[in-house]
Amino acid sequence: PSGLLSDRRGRPLRDLRISVTDRCNFRCSYCMPKEIFGRDHRFLPHAALLSFEETTRLARLFAAHGVHKLRLTGGEPLLRKNLEHLVAMLAEIPTVDGVPMDLTLTTNASLLARKAQALKDAGLQRVTISLDALDDAVFRRMNDVDFAVADVLAGIDAAQRAGFHSIKVNMVVRRGTNEQEIEPMARHFRGTGITLRFIEYMDVGSTNGWRMDHVLPSAEVLARLNVIHPLEPVVAGPLGETAERWRWRDGGGEIGLISSVTQAFCHDCNRARLSTEGKLFLCLFASRGHDLRALLRGGAADEQISDAIAAAWGQREDRYSELRGLQPASVDGPGGERRVEMHYIGG
Ligand code: GTP
Ligand code: 5AD
Ligand code: SF4
Ligand code: SF4
Repeated sequence: PSGLLSDRRGRPLRDLRISVTDRCNFRCSYCMPKEIFGRDHRFLPHAALLSFEETTRLARLFAAHGVHKLRLTGGEPLLRKNLEHLVAMLAEIPTVDGVPMDLTLTTNASLLARKAQALKDAGLQRVTISLDALDDAVFRRMNDVDFAVADVLAGIDAAQRAGFHSIKVNMVVRRGTNEQEIEPMARHFRGTGITLRFIEYMDVGSTNGWRMDHVLPSAEVLARLNVIHPLEPVVAGPLGETAERWRWRDGGGEIGLISSVTQAFCHDCNRARLSTEGKLFLCLFASRGHDLRALLRGGAADEQISDAIAAAWGQREDRYSELRGLQPASVDGPGGERRVEMHYIGG
């Protein structure tokens, strides 16, 4: 039977990241810079998006191949109307080994205060919130739409009140932009039960003008945190996690370091990505996806789609972050093709 896919490097398929919209109401300079994603930018038309039924059908087939974690992303996923209906549909999907599906969401929290309870009630188990600074001026500059820190914090509060069993906060650290926010962020979330994760600024897509000297290595972040209070490593959890986990020695909770630039984690990468329009991407840095929507809308049977997924995964060799360490950075993918953009594939 299925459930045991393995790619060319022996990596299983365990995690599916589903982008539900390519739109976002923020214009973070490292993801959707205003100069490029302006008023006249053409987003995908509604008919191009997978319907909730189509997404659920695919997710079910992925689950049968061993996927046990589904993460909704965007753009900003909460911009997709009635997202809680999709959550309720996905929450019904069984995993191959009978453990409940890990169902989660990455959001900028702009609409979370309004939506948290409905999402929880629909069966969402945990949420991850992006927040790059506690200082209002720095944060407003980074989201570039004048969104206030207080409103993100209100979204986090709402998530806590709704009773999610895990809440994480993601902070993309950009040297020279928000590195001075590392300590305030750490102090703020220490002892709250919320896991703050520091992410090395990555060269995703081809529009964010990434430069190596904008990356603050996680080792430096860790050294700065140890000054606040000593940390100790947490023994690694399930294989294939993005974050290296550390905990405050006094019981103040955990932090995470996501070091895709200085310590690539491709060797056990078990993540596939489904774009808003139903293309299967095998790496965050891929240029091309496999068109599953064409199969869905062409009337393919489940078995045929399932085989297409297995065939794609079986051929997978991607390990972009590892290779980046070995060769000079370039905005183009293999063969000179443009890499997929972050707002399109959801990180
Ligand atoms: P958990 O399930 O809570 O561990 O979440 P996650 O880390 O898998 O997902 P999240 O959306 O919170 O992503 C955190 C950061 O890691 C973001 O900056 C993502 O773009 C990045 N990221 C996630 N998966 C990958 C990956 O496979 N490769 C690389 N290079 N970066 C990734
Ligand atoms: N490098 C690292 N992380 C990024 N994110 C968006 N763009 C980048 C980048 N260039 C983060 C978002 C969100 C997650 C899905 O990816 O802030 O937390
Ligand atoms: Fe910022 Fe996330 Fe929106 Fe990109 S998708 S602009 S990182 S909030
Ligand atoms: Fe996986 Fe590609 Fe990220 Fe490496 S760069 S961890 S292969 S998604």
